Amino acid sequence: KFSDFIKIVEVGPRDGLQNEKEIVSTETKVELINRLSECNLKFIEATSFVSPKWVPQMKDHEQVMQTINRRKGTKYSALAPNLKGFKSALASKVDEVAVFAAASETFSQKNINCSIQESLKRFRPVLDAANEHNIPVRGYVSCVLGCPYEGKIKPSSVVAVAEQMVSMGCYEISLGDTIGVGTPGSTNNLLSEVLHSISNEIIALHCHDTYGQALANILTGLDKGITVFDSSVAGLGGCPYAKGASGNVASEDVIYMLNGLGLNSGVDLEQLCNVGNFISSSINRRNASKVGQAMLNK
Ligand code: HMG
Ligand code: MG
Repeated sequence: KFSDFIKIVEVGPRDGLQNEKEIVSTETKVELINRLSECNLKFIEATSFVSPKWVPQMKDHEQVMQTINRRKGTKYSALAPNLKGFKSALASKVDEVAVFAAASETFSQKNINCSIQESLKRFRPVLDAANEHNIPVRGYVSCVLGCPYEGKIKPSSVVAVAEQMVSMGCYEISLGDTIGVGTPGSTNNLLSEVLHSISNEIIALHCHDTYGQALANILTGLDKGITVFDSSVAGLGGCPYAKGASGNVASEDVIYMLNGLGLNSGVDLEQLCNVGNFISSSINRRNASKVGQAMLNK
């Protein structure tokens, strides 16, 4: 029933760190990314080319991209909300970019200062330019199961945005439960709607663990034939415009579950746990991965 290779998109260096109040040194970010690639993670979201006024933590995007060791076989991606961001990302030799929209109007305004339709309009030139340079573009939809401002979000709002991103040329659509309110029930319901018009081969799930439902939601996704999951080492993260959002689901916890299901992600779990402990102590945070903690105490 389950597909046996699972793609993990490690978003810790970007989604995980973007919300940290204290600026994390470029050196620490680079060491984090290098060590993640040594765990055989093939997709690492390294930084974002957004306005430094909006997200000061990511303003060293260029230095980060210039300094990391590019491991063969690993793709390093970055967020690019507009053409300006895309041009900088391209100059920094990213392998992929991601554009990000929301299924909630209010969240769109707070996160990128424009309406959903306006954001999609701004992504078009990014996709055109990316296409010209053979750079694959991933599309995020945030707040797919709930919004910090608007509450419940209808699956039809998610479908509308996701379909437009597919038709624009995004090769993969990551559905973000930005505030982690989803349950297997609502995840199942959402996926049933989305998969009517979009193939499960190009849908990814981006779960947050705010209510402790992330692994159950991922299992629900697997059951629906989803094979791409976003996660963050040590469960780092939150979202600057989503108050109360705890971290992304921890990569260690996802890999442990996949291993238990006999599904292959190619990731070295033991090494990943060491990376989780390294970054947690570097930024003075409790390691939010249960597996990371358990392995440390073994
Ligand atoms: P704006 O203020 O409306 O944009 O921001 P603007 O075009 O009026 O520009 C204002 C200033 O920003 C100008 O500089 C621009 O040059 C500059 P000034 O003239 O004032 O000196 N600017 C830029 N600088 C660097 N890179 C750029 C860029 N664009 C403009 N790309 C904008 C609009 C989209 C830029 C802004 O709102 C922004 O950067 N937002 C990013 C917010 C963000 O990164 N949020 C977190 C990521 S989304 C997320 O976490 C959810 C996700 O993880 C999924 C999930 O968890 O569910 C994906
Ligand atoms: Mg996230």
